[in-house]
Amino acid sequence: MKKLFFLSLFISLLSASYLTNKSCSECHENIYEEYQTSYHSKTYFNDELHRKVANQASSEDNYDCSTCHMPSAMDQKMFASGVKKPDQTKQRQKDAISCFYCHQIAYVKKAHLKNKIILTRQVEGYKPTIYGSLNNPQDSDKHTMTHSPIYDKYACSGCHSHKRNKHDVLIFDAMGDKQDSKGCIKCHMPLVDGKIEKMDKMSRLKHHDHSFAGIHDETMRQKGLDIKITVQKKSLHVELQNKTPHPLIIQVARVKYLVLKIKRGGKIIWKNYKKSPLEDKQGTFEINFLGKDGKPVIIPAFAYKRGFVNNIKAKESKILKYNTPDLKKGDIIIASMYVILAKPSCWKLLNLEDSRLKKPMLLKSISYTIKGN
Ligand code: HEC
Ligand code: HEC
Ligand code: HEC
Ligand code: HEC
Ligand code: HEC
Repeated sequence: MKKLFFLSLFISLLSASYLTNKSCSECHENIYEEYQTSYHSKTYFNDELHRKVANQASSEDNYDCSTCHMPSAMDQKMFASGVKKPDQTKQRQKDAISCFYCHQIAYVKKAHLKNKIILTRQVEGYKPTIYGSLNNPQDSDKHTMTHSPIYDKYACSGCHSHKRNKHDVLIFDAMGDKQDSKGCIKCHMPLVDGKIEKMDKMSRLKHHDHSFAGIHDETMRQKGLDIKITVQKKSLHVELQNKTPHPLIIQVARVKYLVLKIKRGGKIIWKNYKKSPLEDKQGTFEINFLGKDGKPVIIPAFAYKRGFVNNIKAKESKILKYNTPDLKKGDIIIASMYVILAKPSCWKLLNLEDSRLKKPMLLKSISYTIKGN
């Protein structure tokens, strides 16, 4: 019975016509414009970091990244087996995490290596069904709307929950077992001004922001973390509080690190490193991997084990302790957290061209002046 269901699902998906991202822009122009700036519109062809890691991983995994990075593509299995390679002439592949795909998510089945998304069944000859949570959605020539009371529970967890490689090594783990997608939508798709649809018959004045702002966005970068400083005479404590419901490091290409400086009379008299802030292991947050021989590997597909990991769990905080010279009244302590999107250890192997991937970007900086004696 189950087999039959999936077989018919497969056949109906093959025959149902695909609606491109561009086709949605005819009526949902605001949402389309936002989406175009988002990382969901990026794919193998225009995300340099993803492409280069995928190419390196391909000897182990072919292109099995497509289920999450190119989910609208036909023939997912053929990517994984290496029979097919990404092809820039195919619109479904260029459409990345497409509007149509995301709005057909009916359910997410939990699984050990990675979750599995179940799409709604489309029937040939009928307008495709689109899921969303609007009350009383108006009719449209292009699609039928189904108010799905569970859509916002499953919209993100199919791809963002977790991923293990084929050696059963946990690559990322962003969502807890009981966590659904509603929280993700609140922070990453806040309601913003603007029509949902061109005609706006229902006078809906706000819509969910589809730019999916995350770490590439300056304002979002400041929101993830709080920094607090407390001082003793010869030491200081820096408390880093992760305000998000996901770990400080989700994407394993990233490194986040602390730069700590003490200024006296305009001069820096102490800092938490000599040459590079990455020397300070307690202030450097990253996830590393080891290969079969126990030596470090850069590409997660080749990992047999996790190596050095320093992270801060969802909603938790960590206190870093530093011994310093005697602190005096008027000393200024500056604590700044930065992120580099592609950590230096992978630069050579990946030969990255986009300088934004290698440039430190500020998350948050605070300064604290010592009062009293
Ligand atoms: C289970 C779903 C899933 C699979 C499978 C998957 N990824 Fe991802 N990947 C994601 C998600 C979700 C993000 C965004 C997460 C984030 O930024 O923390 C992401 C982000 C990335 C990024 C960062 C991109 C950037 O622009 O900063 C790289 C690199 C990447 N993935 C590489 C790969 C490679 C290579 C494969 C295949 C070997 C792969 N991924 C397979 C879900 C997946
Ligand atoms: C011909 C115009 C038209 C086109 C093209 C169109 N839509 Fe719509 N869509 C509408 C209208 C009208 C509504 C209802 C708006 C309302 O009720 O305020 C709607 C509503 C929606 C909703 C909300 C459904 C709900 O129940 O919450 C989603 C999601 C949606 N469209 C997605 C898409 C996607 C994805 C595409 C492209 C594949 C697309 N639309 C193309 C006209 C269109
Ligand atoms: C079909 C898989 C898939 C689904 C479903 C999905 N995402 Fe993503 N998401 C990705 C991938 C893959 C990336 C990374 C793309 C890249 O960088 O090339 C990503 C990136 C992101 C980012 C990072 C943006 C940045 O600046 O780096 C955010 C935030 C995000 N997604 C939020 C969401 C939210 C919220 C939902 C649910 C409403 C969701 N995603 C649903 C696959 C998915
Ligand atoms: C309380 C608000 C909040 C909630 C809820 C939230 N996030 Fe985030 N998320 C953020 C902020 C702020 C950032 C950017 C700061 C950072 O990455 O350091 C971020 C970053 C991200 C990134 C980019 C990470 C990277 O390194 O590329 C992804 C992917 C992401 N969130 C996915 C999700 C998913 C999936 C959910 C739901 C489980 C979720 N977020 C829930 C606030 C939130
Ligand atoms: C990563 C998944 C994802 C992608 C990709 C995506 N959407 Fe959405 N969309 C959502 C979610 C989640 C909601 C909010 C549902 C809810 O009410 O909780 C939403 C809401 C909507 C709505 C209803 C109005 C609103 O703001 O609530 C429309 C219309 C819509 N999307 C159209 C589009 C179009 C057009 C595209 C492509 C340009 C697109 N979506 C891409 C997840 C996605």
